[in-house]
Amino acid sequence: MTQADFVVVANRLPVDRTPDGEGWRRSPGGLVTALEPVMRSADGAWVGWAGQADVDVEPFEFDDMHLVPVTLAASDVQLYYEGFSNDTIWPLYHDVISPPTYKRAWWDAYVKVNKRFADAAAAVAAEGGTVWVQDYQLQLVPKLLRELRPDITIGYFHHIPFPAYGLYSQLPWRKQVLEGLLGADVIGFQRVADAGNFARAVRRQLRYETKASGILVPDAEGGTRVALAKAFPISIDAESYVELAQRPDIQQRAREIREGLGNPRKILLGVDRLDYTKGIRHRLKAWGEVLEDGRATVEDATLVQVASPSRERVDAYMQLRDEIEMTVGRINGDYDTTTHTAIRYLHQSYPREEMVALFLAADVMLVTALRDGMNLVAKEYVASRIDNRGVLVLSEFAGAADEMGSALLINPHDIDGLKDAVIRAVDMPAAEQGRRMRTLRRRVREHDVEDWSRGFLEALSAFHGRSSRAADAEVEAGTDDDQADAE
Ligand code: F6P
Repeated sequence: MTQADFVVVANRLPVDRTPDGEGWRRSPGGLVTALEPVMRSADGAWVGWAGQADVDVEPFEFDDMHLVPVTLAASDVQLYYEGFSNDTIWPLYHDVISPPTYKRAWWDAYVKVNKRFADAAAAVAAEGGTVWVQDYQLQLVPKLLRELRPDITIGYFHHIPFPAYGLYSQLPWRKQVLEGLLGADVIGFQRVADAGNFARAVRRQLRYETKASGILVPDAEGGTRVALAKAFPISIDAESYVELAQRPDIQQRAREIREGLGNPRKILLGVDRLDYTKGIRHRLKAWGEVLEDGRATVEDATLVQVASPSRERVDAYMQLRDEIEMTVGRINGDYDTTTHTAIRYLHQSYPREEMVALFLAADVMLVTALRDGMNLVAKEYVASRIDNRGVLVLSEFAGAADEMGSALLINPHDIDGLKDAVIRAVDMPAAEQGRRMRTLRRRVREHDVEDWSRGFLEALSAFHGRSSRAADAEVEAGTDDDQADAE
């Protein structure tokens, strides 16, 4: 059996079935791009679900990666993925924007499926190797893996927010989840505030001591080891966006998009998975009111809203789709003319080339998330703006706001404030656009996804196996801003 020195464990494999159902093709996500160099240099394997229920696939090689599919039965998809992951943890961790459902049968399935992922990772990891677990679907894997394979180094990265203690404590299985995560040597979060919320939950629920970013965890031998819980904000493969934006065919496509919309003076753009955390309703409300107030007409500006299909069998997502589509229909019915539209709504997913053409066509990018771990679309937009033009309107509740202070930061709940920001963005002089965009682009290009994975993996190799005494010195010498949210 193949053994790998470096193993990624994620809910999904980095490939999808080709449309004919025969072969595999790379899925669009940025994670595989980020991890590719490490996967290649370290003889890497990737453990994950192939995205279809009841399909048993043997491990196989793809693009120099060893892929290990984990089979999910239709009932696992329903209880573990749609249920506990996306109807319990997802809404709870996104500040209860939609009420989380707590069902014991979903939890049982989550435990069972997490064991399956941990078993698969334990089987493929080489002696003394490194396993990097990704995201909220697999929070129990670090502990399960440590029990099976104490020889390996375990990292975990949490791509979504970690909620404030008052919300987290609703979770009936709150202790088990914290213990699950603490099986890792390093637990990475998007924001300093997420790491602070996690440390606080650990202190309150488990009574473990924390020192700066270190958490003292009792180990199996009666001693103490130190786990590092810290922010490592994720990013994108910025250069690949720059390269696409430089392509003449993509620039031409951007011009065609503008013409296809009837050459409005400005194009506003929203790009999201169709998810209630993204603030699409708030954005539509604000835009509808701007038109209603007569502060803009459909000849002045069109909003293009790409809402890619997501989790379509979960109730809250079905309801959201109905609401959004009704609102779009109403606004368009009230304001469209035969030549111009208020909102061009696209319930579809597009390849990266088309997305970059849209970014180049858009004068204003609207990111109005009510809560978002990071929001990579904000980074993709600025990376694509090689002309240093365009305005990013960014929710302060998206993790990206911590790094992108030169955007127009907004509170999406404040509809009047959002409307003012939209008008300000539409009217922003080119010189101010340039000043802001240059600062934003510098940050995204310097801190790209490779920088992110390198930073995390360096921390992981430095921290693994730290005795509490050795780590004490390190955490005490470390930065104290991680303590910002401490009690
Ligand atoms: O980070 C959020 C996340 O859930 C990822 O884990 C996942 O890759 C992405 O959003 C898409 O979600 P899903 O896998 O449920 O389609």
